Amino acid sequence: MDTFIVTGASHGFGLEIARQLVRRAGTEVILAVRDLKKGEALAKEMGPNARAMRLDCASMEDINRFIAAWRGPIRGLVNNAGLQQPGATRLTADGYEETIAVNHLAAFQLTVGLLPHLKGGRVLFIGSGTHNPENKTPRRFGFRGAKFTSIAQLAKGESDATNDRQRGLDRYATSKFLNTATGIELARRFQPTEHVFSVLDPGMMAGTGLARSAPAPVRLLWSTVLKWISPLIDDASTTEKSAAAAVWMLTEAPASDIHGAVYDFARKPSERVWEKVREAEVGRMVVEQSLSFLHAKLPT
Ligand SMILES: NC(=O)c1ccc[n+]([C@@H]2O[C@H](COP(=O)([O-])OP(=O)(O)OC[C@H]3O[C@@H](n4cnc5c(N)ncnc54)[C@H](OP(=O)(O)O)[C@@H]3O)[C@@H](O)[C@H]2O)c1
Repeated sequence: MDTFIVTGASHGFGLEIARQLVRRAGTEVILAVRDLKKGEALAKEMGPNARAMRLDCASMEDINRFIAAWRGPIRGLVNNAGLQQPGATRLTADGYEETIAVNHLAAFQLTVGLLPHLKGGRVLFIGSGTHNPENKTPRRFGFRGAKFTSIAQLAKGESDATNDRQRGLDRYATSKFLNTATGIELARRFQPTEHVFSVLDPGMMAGTGLARSAPAPVRLLWSTVLKWISPLIDDASTTEKSAAAAVWMLTEAPASDIHGAVYDFARKPSERVWEKVREAEVGRMVVEQSLSFLHAKLPT
């Protein structure tokens, strides 16, 4: 049985990835979710090859507990759990700004901690076109691209934005920049025969829970009009289409093609990637600072 872990598999994109993965013969899917009851109910619907495990990505203690409890080889890890938080700054129990904690620090810690089980396995990070200040669609929604300062400053919640909404959008875009830079940089450090690291830019998938903290009119727009007009927007997709691309990257795509690459929902190298995120010095800073911030080490 090939085992795949999908974080944030209780809703939206992660749930769809889990559903599509489990349909494959010889595949076991772990729904790594913060609400275990909900995860167990979803796993039951998916059948005997799906299993839920508790994982709260806002808690380093819980992430470390998950890593310590893990036994056995992992074929693929999907770092999908994520949020967008345009309200007042929220800190996790560890004292870290919530968006950076859940979207980046959790994905980073989980990946590093589970690497010894991922021999010959694939790690998929979920990026987003919002990280690139030159992308038109995110700009229309108020995104101004990633604002990478340092991991320590971001974790403290420091920001040059003048209002909560802009701070939230900047933090989200920055977290997706960090996810992308991490995937690209880890691929520089390991051969694809050891671990395959890649990034999926899933496009805009209107209707997921990502807008749950937005004001009511934005939530309504997200779950209705934007869904309807998606076919007219170049970089819009659906959870079904983007999950199919994720499953392909986890199971069928040639490792040498996708290792260190950012692909889009059409299964092609993404054209929405900011050149800055590919800079070797940026990748080095993101990975070294994250390792030092988390007191972690990459296995040799
Ligand atoms: N929708 C888009 O247009 C879009 C575009 C680009 C990238 N993405 C990325 O796609 C991923 C999934 O987002 P989505 O659109 O599917 O949103 P979603 O429907 O809100 O799903 C987010 C998932 O993350 C989980 N999650 C949030 N905080 C968590 C925590 N502390 N611990 C564990 N799980 C947590 C949620 O769990 P609960 O069910 O418990 O809340 C949920 O399962 C994110 O990484 C997002 O950045 C989305």
